[in-house]
Amino acid sequence: MKAGLGTVLISEDEIRRRIDEIGQQISKDYAGRAVTFVGILKGSFIFLADMIRAVSVDIPVEVDFMSVSSYGDATTTSGTIHIEKDLAVPIDGKDVIIVEDIVDTGLTLLHVYNILSARGAKTLRVAALLEKPGNSKYDRPLDYIGFRIPNKFVVGFGLDYAQKFRNLSDIRVLNEI
Ligand code: IMP
Ligand code: MG
Repeated sequence: MKAGLGTVLISEDEIRRRIDEIGQQISKDYAGRAVTFVGILKGSFIFLADMIRAVSVDIPVEVDFMSVSSYGDATTTSGTIHIEKDLAVPIDGKDVIIVEDIVDTGLTLLHVYNILSARGAKTLRVAALLEKPGNSKYDRPLDYIGFRIPNKFVVGFGLDYAQKFRNLSDIRVLNEI
């Protein structure tokens, strides 16, 4: 398919306001503790960068990344998932927040959650910028959600189509052209 940018679904302003709210909520929930943010690459890196700056400086913050892939550039996510880059820091005994760009089938998240849980994280929560409701095999609640969106393929603010469009400051629908 050839892909073209469609309408703006979530504006830069709306994203910034929502991320500020999430940062404030995390600051309350984790007051007096330290937090380790685990970003799932690549899509989460912009959300994570903005979110940690919305968290109070009184909370010690640690950041690490995992790269997990499902195969291909197709707009549907395959069920085959594979770890390409693992964490550099140990997470046992830590308060961890997994940071995901978008939860669609939830398979990526389910996989990462189970790995980090088996490694002995003290607490494990999830922050997702976007959720497509109804598709997810991840059956726990998402602790921090930016926006619930319709079942459309979206790009921007870190999310790609075939590695493109991550640099958009807003979130847009991708159209077939
Ligand atoms: P899941 O495993 O199906 O929940 O999908 C997770 C990953 O698929 C996300 O981290 C994205 O990289 C990718 N993905 C799913 N839906 C979209 C979309 O609408 N736009 C861009 N990437 C998506
Ligand atoms: Mg992707």
